[in-house]
Amino acid sequence: TERVLSGMQPSADSLHLGNYLGALVNWVEMQERYDTFFFIPDMHAITVAQPPEELRERVRRTAAQYIAGGIDPERSTLFVQSHVPEHAQLAWLMICSTGMGEASRMTQFKDKSAKQGADAAGVGLFTYPMLQAADILLYQPHGVPVGEDQKQHVELTRTLAQRFNHRYGETFRVPAPYIPAEGARIYDLQNPTAKMSKSAESPNGLLNILDTDKKIAKKIKSAVTDDGSEIRFDREAKPGVSNLLSIYSVLSGKTIDELVAEYEGTMYGHLKVDLADVVVAKLGPVRDRAEELLGDPAELDALLAKGAAKARSVASETLAQAYDKIGFLPAE
Ligand code: TYM
Repeated sequence: TERVLSGMQPSADSLHLGNYLGALVNWVEMQERYDTFFFIPDMHAITVAQPPEELRERVRRTAAQYIAGGIDPERSTLFVQSHVPEHAQLAWLMICSTGMGEASRMTQFKDKSAKQGADAAGVGLFTYPMLQAADILLYQPHGVPVGEDQKQHVELTRTLAQRFNHRYGETFRVPAPYIPAEGARIYDLQNPTAKMSKSAESPNGLLNILDTDKKIAKKIKSAVTDDGSEIRFDREAKPGVSNLLSIYSVLSGKTIDELVAEYEGTMYGHLKVDLADVVVAKLGPVRDRAEELLGDPAELDALLAKGAAKARSVASETLAQAYDKIGFLPAE
């Protein structure tokens, strides 16, 4: 069976609907057909300073949301990045084979450093895609299931794998980004031309897995809509309504055309009320199950420790090969 690997940053208290639709639901489905590895990139999260107690808690919360969303720790290898030191070790090799120019072209770095000013941005933010390449290549996966915004990082990973293989001999499988046809890009409810993101300006732009039903309904109700009152799908002219329609479509399984026909002649408010029901019906049970799992942190920690041991047995083998190929003297 083919292998896939992916992860989501534990940099907020909750995952959001973009993470859920762009990644998690697809991961869950992949467990049927693939050898699946899912991890929590806590080392990526510290590229922006995190309060230590919060970080620890957010890692558990992220794990609980993976499981509550349908990741089965018996079927998938579920682990925390910092529990497997090979990630940091291989990252150095990746850093050493990346050019300043190609690292500077990463749009996520450009966006984040633009906010802080390039000089104030941490070096970790700059080397972050090389750590991500290491995360992936250690496990020799065929595919990396991610939303559209991560495509460029997977492309860099491919470049680095090919470069290493070319210089030092066949070492890494060159992985492909697996991007879903639907849900790959969910937009901010308050600012529907920007992607839904943990670093959003307004918390009302995000629908979080751990939000209460009431909060979800309220956020959808106050979602920015567009001029006019017609409900139709048009990303250019009607980004707000189009985003609501596409969320509705992915969650309900109805096509956009079906929805447009169904809501013809009704008001935005009508669509929003129904959409809130659909979102609550999907996310509510995930939230409740996650809260339940968080009631037993020792059990969660034990699951993660087991996953780390499994992950490490794969990662250490790849790292040993890479060390050998690059010419490091064996330690024993
Ligand atoms: P992160 O934590 O920003 O996002 C986690 C996953 O959610 C997807 N996503 C979205 N999909 C649709 N619409 C959105 N608005 C939206 N926002 C986020 C992302 O595409 C991603 O699949 N660098 C990665 C984490 C990472 C990683 C890895 C991923 C570290 N190492 C190795 C894959 C493999 C990140 O910051 O994702």
